[in-house]
Amino acid sequence: MIKECDILTEKDAKTLREVSKDVIFPLSEEDILKINDMIMYLRLSQDEEYAEKNNIRAGMGLAAIQLGIKKRFFVISYKKEDGTFEEYKVINPKILSHSEEEIYVEEGEGCLSVTRYVEGIVPRYARITVEYYDEFGNKQTKRVREEIAVAFQHEIDHLNGILFTDKIDKKNPFKNQENMRAI
Ligand code: NI
Repeated sequence: MIKECDILTEKDAKTLREVSKDVIFPLSEEDILKINDMIMYLRLSQDEEYAEKNNIRAGMGLAAIQLGIKKRFFVISYKKEDGTFEEYKVINPKILSHSEEEIYVEEGEGCLSVTRYVEGIVPRYARITVEYYDEFGNKQTKRVREEIAVAFQHEIDHLNGILFTDKIDKKNPFKNQENMRAI
């Protein structure tokens, strides 16, 4: 089981900044277990009672590199209003195309590896078409939008050693706000 202290933070920049390597199939037993553990961690983190009791922050995405694993995979677990989860296990992803329209998360983007509040706009495409492999090695092509599109872009950045804080203009954190839609 993953614990909060297993997740690397900005203090561990050396690892977080590394570019992860493509995964070779079939996945190892260890990687399959890790992927399922990552999903479980995100689900629990979005359970208010559990999160409060264990003093952990809610997260909807987690990349392998955040656990010190330099492999190109991540998971997304998004709790919907009806309480069910929309989940993705994403390996070796590639963005095939994206919308012209850009969006940003109004309350600010968050990351389990960034433990401080960072103000400003992180520009993201409103919709992307992404190709990736699932844990069985089957190729998937999905068109995702809004929160899920943001999560994919945020996690793909992790695989390239990029944090959301890098995307905020240092001099003017709200630069170009008028050209983007808040979500
Ligand atoms: Ni993150």
